[in-house]
Amino acid sequence: MKKAFVVGHPIKHSRSPLIHGHWLKQYGIEGSYERIDVAPADFGEFLKTFPERGFVGGNVTIPHKEAACLGVDRRTKRAERLGAVNTLWREDGLIWGDNTDVLGFTAHLDRSLGQGWEEAVDTALIVGAGGAARAIVAGLQDRGIPRLLVINRTLPKAEELVRDLRDDGPSSLQALPWGDIDAALATAGLVVNTTSLGMAGQPPLDLDLGISPDGAVVADIVYVPLRTPLLAAAEARGLRTVDGLGMLLHQAVPGFARWFGVTPEVTPELRALIVADLEGRS
Ligand code: ATR
Repeated sequence: MKKAFVVGHPIKHSRSPLIHGHWLKQYGIEGSYERIDVAPADFGEFLKTFPERGFVGGNVTIPHKEAACLGVDRRTKRAERLGAVNTLWREDGLIWGDNTDVLGFTAHLDRSLGQGWEEAVDTALIVGAGGAARAIVAGLQDRGIPRLLVINRTLPKAEELVRDLRDDGPSSLQALPWGDIDAALATAGLVVNTTSLGMAGQPPLDLDLGISPDGAVVADIVYVPLRTPLLAAAEARGLRTVDGLGMLLHQAVPGFARWFGVTPEVTPELRALIVADLEGRS
């Protein structure tokens, strides 16, 4: 029986066990996926010893993604670039790390908007400059979006992101101060909220979507609630919206495939299961 985990601190709110547990059942695989709470001081030891404890691999979440990136034997180029690992596995006696948030975001856009959506987007505005923003910028660079604007309450953090992620690819990447938000919105065909604004208990991200171009897409990575005030405002303005749950579901696909040997599908049933859990109905 193959065993996988999600490690974090705290970990009890992670939905990953529900996602992987659903797939294990759906594909009739004898395996397990469990939550493990590991304090930062013990993470290095955990990383080195999980194979001895019988695990084929697992997911890494807050606050261990950076430590995982530094501690693995080998990492993918993508993980190296982001300085963060969220997926671990064993290969040829070595511990490998990848960052699947990047593909999680773009796969969700593909599914929500249809393949080829990137051809209609000249400028994308990324609001926020934390770890999630980094993965999303990398995903949009991979798709060759010509102009990426990163706006953040704390400008130096956006500038640091730009310094770290600037590459020789086709996308220009620029940090903007918060005061430029309206000018940026007026040009952005894709707007992505990567901040915690709009999450239950937080103030909304209040953007003037009246100045967004017609046909713009508004995406949120917040998924509690699923329909954030930002997405509701975008719908009211007649814009297309992409919710935050899909990124969570799609980032889980590559890990499951590596550990259990089957590439799982993100189905409406899986989505409904997680939505029911988020709404406290399960
Ligand atoms: P994650 O790794 O999940 O992206 P993070 O690194 O804590 O989380 O980043 C959170 C992002 O939300 C940051 O861009 C943060 O802005 P600052 O860099 O200025 O802190 C943004 N954020 C959080 N609360 C905010 C608020 N009230 N207004 C504007 N931005 C906020």
